[in-house]
Amino acid sequence: MSDPTSTRDRAAPIGVFDSGLGGLTVVRALSRDLPLEQIVYLGDTARLPYGTKSAATVVRYALQSADVLLRHGIKYLVVACNTASAHALPTLRERLPIPVLGVVEPGARLAAEVTGTGQVGVLGTLGVVASAAYPRAMQQIRPELAVFGQACPLLVPLAEEGWLHHPVTRQVVAHYLAELQAQAGPVETLVLGCTHYPLLRQVISEQAAIVFGGAVRLVDSAEAAAAAAVAELSSRGLLAVERRAPDRFMFSDVSRFTLVAERFLGRPLGTAEHADL
Ligand code: DGL
Repeated sequence: MSDPTSTRDRAAPIGVFDSGLGGLTVVRALSRDLPLEQIVYLGDTARLPYGTKSAATVVRYALQSADVLLRHGIKYLVVACNTASAHALPTLRERLPIPVLGVVEPGARLAAEVTGTGQVGVLGTLGVVASAAYPRAMQQIRPELAVFGQACPLLVPLAEEGWLHHPVTRQVVAHYLAELQAQAGPVETLVLGCTHYPLLRQVISEQAAIVFGGAVRLVDSAEAAAAAAVAELSSRGLLAVERRAPDRFMFSDVSRFTLVAERFLGRPLGTAEHADL
């Protein structure tokens, strides 16, 4: 991309990718904050979940998704998947000819800004927690912060199943929060470090109040990423000035998910296109 401030570049779409449908929570936040931007979304539904896979595999998948989106002429890439952000961001930034934003840095920055002196908990996939990407990013800003990761692998399938207020989900959330409490003691702030957790926000908030004996502040990395995207596009002169085309949604497997996808996106999805990955 030769001149990043040309009209052609400002009119180009934003690419967003995720391991599957959860990244649509990031699209939801981006669409609200950037209504003039066209979004081209790629969900790697054929290979989900990323949260249980090795860093090397996730980096390989992320590069393949980025390649597909680059072929759609995107001006900016948002990595909506926390696991891919945790493992693949340096490689994507090094190899791609366009700016790349992950969700971990904005989520970590917001958590570091809003939390007081208490402990911070990060809920995420096994991969996100093992990478320690959130604690690292938060401690770069505030070295004194005590940050504890808690892997919650059962929450992704529960959210995909739509069991957002189900008693089983409540019990599973309570179990993970009790594990976090056992290692961290009372936490003041909880980071929702996974694309799927914004859908479980209410249950997480209720159970956190019970387990930790009082209200706990929740930080949503999807919301934080949308705000960071606005700031970066604006500072680079890349904001679209008019809406040129509708959003596009591509998936590496398109079976059985329109209803689930719309739950994450918060509006009708339109046509789901197939993308080879
Ligand atoms: N999108 C993933 C994340 O935010 C959750 C689903 C998965 O494990 O692939 O980490």
